[in-house]
Amino acid sequence: MRSMTSSTLRALYLEYFERLGHAVIPSASLIPENDPTVLFTTAGMHPLVPYLLGAAHPAGKRLTDVQKCVRTGDIDDVGDASHLTFFEMMGNWSLGDYFKREAIAWSWTFLTDPDWLGIPKEKLAFSVFAGDENAPRDDESFALWRDMGVPADRIFYLPRENNWWGPAGQTGPCGPDTEMFIITDKEPCGPDCSPACSCGRYLEIWNDVFMQYNKIADGTLVPLAKPNVDTGMGLERTLCVLTGKKTVYETDLFTPILSKIEGLTGKMYGADDETTRAFRIVADHIRTGVFMIGDPRGITPSNVDQGYVLRRLIRRAVRHGMKLGAPEGFTADIAAVIVERYNAAYPELERNAAFIREQLLLEEGRFQRTLQQGTREFEKIAARLAGSQIDGLTAFHLYDTYGFPIEITMELAAERALTIDIDAFRERFREHQEKSHAGAEQRFKGGLLDHSEQTARLHTATHLLHAALRGVLGQEVAQKGSNITAERLRFDFSFGRKMTKEELTEVERRVNEAIAADYPIDCRETTVDEAKAEGAIGLFESKYGERVKVYTMGTASKEICGGPHASRTGELESFKIQKEESSSAGVRRIKAVIGARA
Ligand code: ALA
Repeated sequence: MRSMTSSTLRALYLEYFERLGHAVIPSASLIPENDPTVLFTTAGMHPLVPYLLGAAHPAGKRLTDVQKCVRTGDIDDVGDASHLTFFEMMGNWSLGDYFKREAIAWSWTFLTDPDWLGIPKEKLAFSVFAGDENAPRDDESFALWRDMGVPADRIFYLPRENNWWGPAGQTGPCGPDTEMFIITDKEPCGPDCSPACSCGRYLEIWNDVFMQYNKIADGTLVPLAKPNVDTGMGLERTLCVLTGKKTVYETDLFTPILSKIEGLTGKMYGADDETTRAFRIVADHIRTGVFMIGDPRGITPSNVDQGYVLRRLIRRAVRHGMKLGAPEGFTADIAAVIVERYNAAYPELERNAAFIREQLLLEEGRFQRTLQQGTREFEKIAARLAGSQIDGLTAFHLYDTYGFPIEITMELAAERALTIDIDAFRERFREHQEKSHAGAEQRFKGGLLDHSEQTARLHTATHLLHAALRGVLGQEVAQKGSNITAERLRFDFSFGRKMTKEELTEVERRVNEAIAADYPIDCRETTVDEAKAEGAIGLFESKYGERVKVYTMGTASKEICGGPHASRTGELESFKIQKEESSSAGVRRIKAVIGARA
């Protein structure tokens, strides 16, 4: 095998497929655009779903890229040798162009040719789909690997749970796949040892998915007019295998991060199992946090959705960093190393370096305060309980009053051999969400607590304001939060600087113009896709296929939302901005009133 660094591996992959007529496209955002089915981009195919379903891609029918991905399903396993919450997926796509024959032959050459990865042929094994009642056995892929010279005993037929792939959101393009494995030095774990077992003999490095179906909401597989190829090769894992490292943390992607943690804490990576685990959690979680905050559609820590995942990652990293004795502000110092390490491949990190630093420091500080208070409270509770179970109400109290994430309560409890009545906690949590109207709509919209007429009107004003801000400041302005009281509306949106007087006046003028036009407010139910096609703004949070409400206010605004609203814009009478201020870094806040107050 040839010697390799992360940058040569990325470059080789793209060059190989470029030579085979693929257009190299940049990584899409980690935060899916208007895709309600997942919080993060979880695979290279994700941003390409519309094209895999038949839309024409501007760059053509053959594409290749290295996509930033986040998967947090196994977050509790991070700390072992292989689990990561962020990874880069190298991929190549055929959008209704080539299919199995070319995909398999090209994968084979890339893996084995000394000019490319040069992996010894006898070190490779493959799996193909065994077939079931819904789709036939993939004898074609088996035969194609045989044509490459692979002996039959290194090609395994495996069932749906191993060799069928569809996107994380459950619905969408899917099909059988063929996976490629490195055979390690570990002996087979038994006579049935295969790539399906987790004994470590077979390490998956690449997956070619043959997308032949679209899975719709009721589970039916609808054959695609033109089948596609979607492939994914994990950069970290492949680099680890090619360079003969024991774990992904020993590759050049992580070594500078681990050295920095050593420098900051005076501890040595590898000193003992617990230290090693803490190093890995800190490195993994901060790396993921840096990519989330530094993304072009970057997010900030919060209590909902993506923001909550980010908060959880940072807070867990802080906790393990503290265990190692890291000094205050260490997250920002580690982030600086990560930005430097990744800057050549992802220049957005350098552009957003100040924002990344600021957000990490803010969250670290908030968490330090929470931790001090919450830990004191937890200790009191633990002493009182003396070895028994923490009930749901108490766990909820820690969350609600002390902002203690449940995951941390669980970890602290486990360290003291206490259990938690987690079902009861969840029950409480749900009741709380229902009570505070934090259902699907409010999760994004902020607390819309009162459905009175005045609230509905302020809500309508919020839509007009949102549209006016985008008109005046640019379409990249996005809603970050909204809150309505009987007196006023409050609207948070992404924008990097203080608005000028002229901009504020113009926004006010536009909203008042829409009010004066007395547009009827039209509410129509439609599908997410149609709403998107019509150019509606708003957060597409419902599942594909589900119906959403689109509120149209003349030519002034078209936005997806659950309502309720005024029936005509004229009901608002007039609109006035009272205040424009900073809410957090990169986020501005406007408070405004309507009617007699304006
Ligand atoms: N989309 C396929 C995967 O994620 C390639 O494994």
